[in-house]
Amino acid sequence: SPMAPFDLVIFGGTGDLAMRKLLPALLHRHVDGQIGPDSRIYGIARDERTDEAYRERVRDAVAPLAAADPRIAACLDEFLGLLHYRRLDLGSEAGWPEFAAELGDTPGRVRVFYLAVGPSLFANVADRLDGVGLAGGGTRVVVEKPIGKDGASAQVINEALGRVFHESQVYRIDHYLGKETVQNLTALRFGNALFEPLWKAEHIDHVQITVAETVGVEGRAAYYDKSGALRDMVQNHLLQLLCLVAMEPPASLAADAIRDEKLKVLRALRPIDGGNAGQLTVRGQYRAGAVGGQAVPGYLDELGAASNTETFVAIKAEVQNWRWAGVPFYLRTGKRLAQRMSEIVVTFRRVPHSIFGDPNDGHSSPLAPNKLVIRLQPDEGVKLWLMNKVPGPGGMRMREVAMDLSFAETFGGRQPDAYERLLMDVVRGNPMLFMRRDEVDAAWQWIDPIRAAWEAAHDAPKAYTAGGWGPSAAVALIERDGRTWHEDGY
Ligand code: BG6
Repeated sequence: SPMAPFDLVIFGGTGDLAMRKLLPALLHRHVDGQIGPDSRIYGIARDERTDEAYRERVRDAVAPLAAADPRIAACLDEFLGLLHYRRLDLGSEAGWPEFAAELGDTPGRVRVFYLAVGPSLFANVADRLDGVGLAGGGTRVVVEKPIGKDGASAQVINEALGRVFHESQVYRIDHYLGKETVQNLTALRFGNALFEPLWKAEHIDHVQITVAETVGVEGRAAYYDKSGALRDMVQNHLLQLLCLVAMEPPASLAADAIRDEKLKVLRALRPIDGGNAGQLTVRGQYRAGAVGGQAVPGYLDELGAASNTETFVAIKAEVQNWRWAGVPFYLRTGKRLAQRMSEIVVTFRRVPHSIFGDPNDGHSSPLAPNKLVIRLQPDEGVKLWLMNKVPGPGGMRMREVAMDLSFAETFGGRQPDAYERLLMDVVRGNPMLFMRRDEVDAAWQWIDPIRAAWEAAHDAPKAYTAGGWGPSAAVALIERDGRTWHEDGY
């Protein structure tokens, strides 16, 4: 059934995020009947454009979806009818009073302003909205990362937002939190009695978090080159995943109960700075290579300039508290890697003694440690790797076999995109999957000294060939500890 009518205004309404993620997500929610005919969706940008022209542009952007699904094709015109376009300049007051009048004085109606624009414009939007009386009660604002480029700039942005909005009106999005498998991590941990007793240093050897991408930086090089993988992926997505793995059980699903626990994890991260960054971090940059059989250019060729920006990071992190002391959390992420593959691997400790003979005598196989693999993409699911006897009369031959929960097979149907869930959560007023200001601050507090250490060291990122798994130093980072990256055989 549809939600109460709402207004959703997208600043950056013709941008990449709006076209690739936000509008397709809204379309899916509309097809599923959640967005009724009285809701309005506005795209805002700087150029002159009619509603009709905007609708046609969106029609083109979602054409592949409509072509693939007759239900979508059937609803498309109705959805496009909800869309409007307004030209507004964030740097001037012109047009704002008229826009406010158009939205109208509609008490009780939820109004969401999505700031799909660069963070340097957040304060402008906030001030403009405030100036025309659109910042009050029913208003919610959604801000995308990057929330700053370091702790200090994040603070400036958060303060600018805080001058106009109450913290409860601000939704800081990290779309990884909206991914089905990420939410399922919380379900697995706290909906089952099986894992929690083992979920600690006593029983867990180490954790790996990998977010590997095959794409380069096409079209986003200007943003990306100022950011780099540490800010673009680790500060937000990878640290949020780490928090969900490592946090103490929250008392409930209440937004603050969860966010309090995540915050404690961030604050317990072992600091990395000039003294240890050399041992605990690796930064890389891709050179020309081939991904999936396709030749691709190197980062510097795509950028068309010299640059020391990293497109790959590996970090050996540690959560310094009673539960996790001494357990490494190996993080890695990069562009132009061999495969699009994101997963969390929890590797348990080995059995203390094998009764299956000596693996070196040729009659027995070594016992692999149990592993819980939570696969975020591409094929969402969970696997629990266990040792089993290979059937047959030949004796106790042991092999690792996975208990396999494929989401697609188990639950069928389409996996909704993270933005569908998150956008509807904003409309519903549920901030559980959004980041609180102090979380963002704490994440930067851990990231900033890493960045500073790299800058002080003046070394170029290590080269890796596009289509591989990053620089060899990233392999050395984990193999030095007698462990290996979990690469295939998911
Ligand atoms: C974004 C980053 O936040 O996440 C991009 O800015 C990255 O660089 C993207 O490609 C990855 O998201 P997903 O959902 O495709 O894994």
